[in-house]
Amino acid sequence: MDKILVHGGHTLTGSVKISGSKNSALPILAATLLTKEPCVIHHVPDLSDIHYMLQIISHLGAQVERASGTVRIEAESIKTVAPYEIVRKMRASVCVLGPLLGREKEATVSLPGGCVIGDRPIDLHLKGFEALNAAHRVEQGNVKVFASELRGSVINLRGKLGPTVLGTGNVMMAAVLATGTSVIEGAAAEPEVVDLANFLTKMGAKIEGAGTSRIIIEGVKELHGAEHEVIPDRIEAGTFLVAAAIAGKEVQLKRVEPTHLTAVIDALNQSGYRTTSGVGTLTLHGNGQAKPLQLTTEPYPGFPTDMQAQMCALLSRTAGSSTVMETVFPQRFMHVSELKRMGADIELEGSTAIIKGINRLSGAPVMASDLRASAALVLAGLQAEGVTEVNRVYHIDRGYESIDEKLNGLGAQIERVKA
Ligand code: UD1
Repeated sequence: MDKILVHGGHTLTGSVKISGSKNSALPILAATLLTKEPCVIHHVPDLSDIHYMLQIISHLGAQVERASGTVRIEAESIKTVAPYEIVRKMRASVCVLGPLLGREKEATVSLPGGCVIGDRPIDLHLKGFEALNAAHRVEQGNVKVFASELRGSVINLRGKLGPTVLGTGNVMMAAVLATGTSVIEGAAAEPEVVDLANFLTKMGAKIEGAGTSRIIIEGVKELHGAEHEVIPDRIEAGTFLVAAAIAGKEVQLKRVEPTHLTAVIDALNQSGYRTTSGVGTLTLHGNGQAKPLQLTTEPYPGFPTDMQAQMCALLSRTAGSSTVMETVFPQRFMHVSELKRMGADIELEGSTAIIKGINRLSGAPVMASDLRASAALVLAGLQAEGVTEVNRVYHIDRGYESIDEKLNGLGAQIERVKA
C-alpha cells in the first residue's frame, strides 16, 4: 500500500487550483441514470470514489466516456441491480437507489457495511422512498426498493442527528419522476444538494427550495439529457485553507466558491487568520499569533464535520485550550489517537475533543482509517519536526485529487512511496 512521507518545516506560499466537488459529482453522476439521453458533466475530479461510481454506472448498462475532467454518460437502457464488489467499496453507492427507483421503479444495492466514522444507516433514505409509495426488502445483504407507481407526498427526512445529505439527494432523484408533488421537510441544505437540484432542473425536473430545509418537487413524466459543471470542492478548499494556516505565508485558492466556506472562514478569522476573497479566489494570509477556538460541527451552513479533523490538527499547535464538538458523526475522532502519537495533547470527553495547544508536533508513522482523518495527518505533518509517515494513503486518494502534488506546488516536501 502506498504511503506518504511529509517532511515538516517547509513554508507554503503561492496558489492552488481547487478541483470539482466529490460529494456533488457522485450523486450528479448517479442522476444521469434518470434519462435515456446523453449527459455531459464537467469538472469531475479524478478520484477513486468517482472511479467506483463510474464503474457502477457502466455495470448498470450505461455507456461511459471520460476525457480528463469531462464525463459523458448515455444510459439508454439500464439494469437495476448494482454489483456488490464495487458497492461495498463506497458508501455513496447508495445514491444510485433514487434514480433507478425513479426510472425503473425498482433498485437493488448492497447494504453499506459498518463504517469507521460510526454506524451509518440508510433508514432515512428508505423512509423517504416509502413515503413515495415504494416498499423495501432486505435480502442476503442487499436492499431492494420497488414500487408499482411512485406517488408524491410530504416526507420528513430529519433524523435524530439532523438532516441527511445523500438521503435528501436520493429521495429528490426518485421524486422528480413521481406522479404529483412531493415536499421534503427537514431537507439538507448543503451546496451539493443545490448543485444536484440545479442539474436535475437542467434535465427538466421541477424543483423549488433546494438550499433550504423544505424542497418542493413537482413530478414530471420524463427527463432529458443535460450538460453541467460541478461546483468547486468546498472541503478540499477548506483543507488547503487549514494547510495554509498551519504552514503558510500567503496561499491563494483558485476556482473556489468562498460563500460555501463561510463557517470555515469565520472560524479561521476568529482564530486570528486574515482571509481575503475575490471572484473565485480566496487567500489566507499568514499569522503570527493564533488563538484557540471553541468549535461545534453542524449541518450546513454550520461548521462542516468534514473539516473537523483538519481543525483538530491546526488547534493541536495553537496555544491555549480549544474544544471541538462533533454533532453530525459523534464517533468521528479516529485522528485523535494518531495526533497524540505526534505529541498532541487531546482528550476526548464523549463527542468533544479538548485540545491543549503545544508548540510543535513531532513526525511519526501514523495511520488513519478515514478520508478526512488522513488529510488531517498530512496537514499535521507539514509543521511537525522530522518526517511524518502517513500510511493507508488510499483513503486520501478517495477524496483529494493529487494532494501531495498540490501541496508540493505550494512548497511542501511530500513524497509518495509506492508499495
Ligand atoms: C455526506 C457526505 C459526507 C459528510 C456528510 C455530512 C457524501 C458522499 N458524503 O454523507 O462527506 O460527512 O454528508 O455532512 O456526500 N443518518 C441516519 N440515517 C440515514 C442517513 C444518515 O441516521 O438514513 C445520520 C448519519 O449517521 C449521520 C447524519 O445522519 O449521523 C448525517 O449523515 P448524512 O448527511 O446522511 O451523511 P451522508 O449523506 O452519508
